[in-house]
Amino acid sequence: MLQTPIFAGNWKMHMGPEEAEQFFSEFLQQVPESSDRSVVFFPPAVTLAAVVAAVEGRSDIELGVQNIHWEPKGAFTGETSAPLAAAAGAALVLVGHSERRHVFGETNDDTRKKVAAALGAGLRPMLCVGELLEDREAGRAAAVVEEQLEAVYAELSEQDAAQLLIAYEPVWAIGTGRTASPEDAREMHAQVRAFLDGRYGAELAARTPVLYGGSVKPDNAAELLAQEGVDGVLVGGASLDAGGFARICASAA
Ligand code: PGA
Repeated sequence: MLQTPIFAGNWKMHMGPEEAEQFFSEFLQQVPESSDRSVVFFPPAVTLAAVVAAVEGRSDIELGVQNIHWEPKGAFTGETSAPLAAAAGAALVLVGHSERRHVFGETNDDTRKKVAAALGAGLRPMLCVGELLEDREAGRAAAVVEEQLEAVYAELSEQDAAQLLIAYEPVWAIGTGRTASPEDAREMHAQVRAFLDGRYGAELAARTPVLYGGSVKPDNAAELLAQEGVDGVLVGGASLDAGGFARICASAA
C-alpha cells in the first residue's frame, strides 16, 4: 500500500434520497472521521444532492457520479455533463465501468472522450478497466487491460494523468460472488503500475491510486487490501448495506 486506502462505493441503480439519508444516519456513526483512509460514494445522479447534504462537514468523504456524457452541454436528452455533475457536488466520476462497456456498448474511444470531459470540468476520473472471462481464459487479460489504458492515456499530459484513479475490475468478478485470487489481483495491479511507470515515470505510477473491484465483501476486503499495489477497493453490492460497508472501511491495510 503506497498511500492511505480508498474505499469506494458504487451504488449503481439503487438508493433514492430517503434511503441514502437512512444509510448515512447509520454509516456516519460507525465510520468516524479519519485521515487514515478516504471514502468515496458514487450514488445515482438523482440522489447526489441528498448525499451532499448527508455528508456535509466530513472531509474524509468524497462524492462522484457513475457516468457522464463527453459533451459539456446541449441537446442530449437524458444525459449528464461533467460541468453539471461538478455543479451538483461531484468531485469524481466513474468512467468505463464494465456495465457501461458491456451493457451499454461503450468503447475505449468513448472512455477517452469522457476522461477528457471530466478533466476539463475539474472532475477526477476513476477509470475502470478489466477483462472478460473469455479474455482471461484465452490468456488475453493483460492485453485487454493494456488496450483500455492505452486508449485513455495515449494523449494525456502528465498533469492530466496525475488526476486519474484506476479501478481494476475483472468483469467475471463483478456481482458474481467470485473474486480474483489475491495473486491475480497483485499481478494485474503491478501491470497497471508498470504501464504508468513506462509512460510517466515511477513517481506518477506510485502516486496513482489503483483500486480492486469485483465482489468485494466485508470478509475478503482485508486480504485484497493486503496485496502489494492494491490501494483501495471499489465495492458495488456490499456498499448498499451501511453496516457491511462500514466493516469494509475498517479493513486494515
Ligand atoms: P460488486 O460490483 O462489488 O457488486 O461485484 C463492483 C462494481 O461493479 O464496481
